[in-house]
Amino acid sequence: MKIQSLRGMPDLFPENLEKWHKFESALKKIFHSFGTNEIRTPLLESTELFSRSVGNASDIVNKELYSFLDRNEESISLRPEGSASVIRAIIQKKQEQEKHKLWYQGPMFRYERPQKGRFRQFHQVGVEYLGFEEGISEYELISMVLQINKLIGISDYTIKINHLGDQNAKESFCKSLVSFIQPHIKELHDKDQARLKNNPLRILDSKETSTQALLKEGPKFKDFISEESKNFLQNLVDTYKNDCDMQIDQSLVRGLDYYTGIVFEAASKDLGAQDAFLGGGRYDNLSNHLGGKDMNAIGFAIGVERIVELLSEKNMNQSLKVGFIISGEQIDKKTYKIAENLRSANRNIILDTFLGQGSLKSQLRKANKNNCSYVIIIGEEEYKNDQVIWKNLDGSGEQELLSQKEAIKKYTNL
Ligand code: HAM
Repeated sequence: MKIQSLRGMPDLFPENLEKWHKFESALKKIFHSFGTNEIRTPLLESTELFSRSVGNASDIVNKELYSFLDRNEESISLRPEGSASVIRAIIQKKQEQEKHKLWYQGPMFRYERPQKGRFRQFHQVGVEYLGFEEGISEYELISMVLQINKLIGISDYTIKINHLGDQNAKESFCKSLVSFIQPHIKELHDKDQARLKNNPLRILDSKETSTQALLKEGPKFKDFISEESKNFLQNLVDTYKNDCDMQIDQSLVRGLDYYTGIVFEAASKDLGAQDAFLGGGRYDNLSNHLGGKDMNAIGFAIGVERIVELLSEKNMNQSLKVGFIISGEQIDKKTYKIAENLRSANRNIILDTFLGQGSLKSQLRKANKNNCSYVIIIGEEEYKNDQVIWKNLDGSGEQELLSQKEAIKKYTNL
């Protein structure tokens, strides 16, 4: 029997990864321009890290963690997200009192029901700003989100945003929500009854129309948070409302327990049911919660599979490709040296060497199939005379004979 990959854990082939690389290099430029530095944390962490941060009652910890006992009988888990590990790392380094602007990327694992846009191994690129209180950092992160979307050419999306207040406001809202729903509990779907018992705020995400109708009359976050928080939220929305579709959503709480303050999500209807391609918010209490000193924190993470789905070819400048064809018997180190010189002359171009395999015709076919704009051909004659044929693959059939020196010059200026 053939061995298959695990459900929801797809392989990524070169043809899938081309867009990923474009996206990642665009992102790196943005992170660089914001003075944000990379951090790498392990894929495996103690299970307790996630139960104490993301929350025991959250779906992510309760139902979706890949946890197991290691050889030392300790419960460890594959990370379902990156923020908890970043905070753990900074606490461990005793740097809670410094300021950090960090980004990370890599695979995350959640045992969810696989469907379009939802995987069990998926990838995130995340940003965490640590040591900055509510204020400019919210503006800076929203501005970063807009710049990312602009640079990679995503325009049709909505940012939903809410303010959860501080821990007290969040708890008061939660109590009020429970007492509002309690008299109607029998009318609720089983799933929502369980939510009310285990993690009441999650009921706001219910897809049941009857629950949503009931919630319309229920308590609203805006009645539990301070005037200052309300103004902060409104000013944030007013600042960016001309740059994107940004809407206050009173029922946005997000699925991780650690948030207080601003929370936000970006979604695109082009993605279907799993439409959120980015989510984040403030989580000032997490450091304390994990045994560290006080440390303000805010961040967001992008779902790479989802954002890449939104990128059309035209949004991603393709690198120019040139085919390098050696025809005849003269394949030796000296011929290959020409390829080496071309690559050194211009590293922005993909020089597609077919490693001299196949006839001239079949190599030309490969060059066309691989979307090469030009081919450089070296046959017996050209080899003898230190020349190359430079051929246009735009359908015009144009070609010229160049000395190797001229070819390198032309290649440098492409
Ligand atoms: P999250 O909303 O759970 O937040 O995940 C962020 C993004 O990861 C989602 O918007 C989605 O695009 C993607 N994502 C989540 N689960 C899956 C899945 N099963 N398959 C494919 N994509 C998925 C967090 O993880 C927080 N740590 C974000 C954050 C950083 N908050 C503050 N700092």
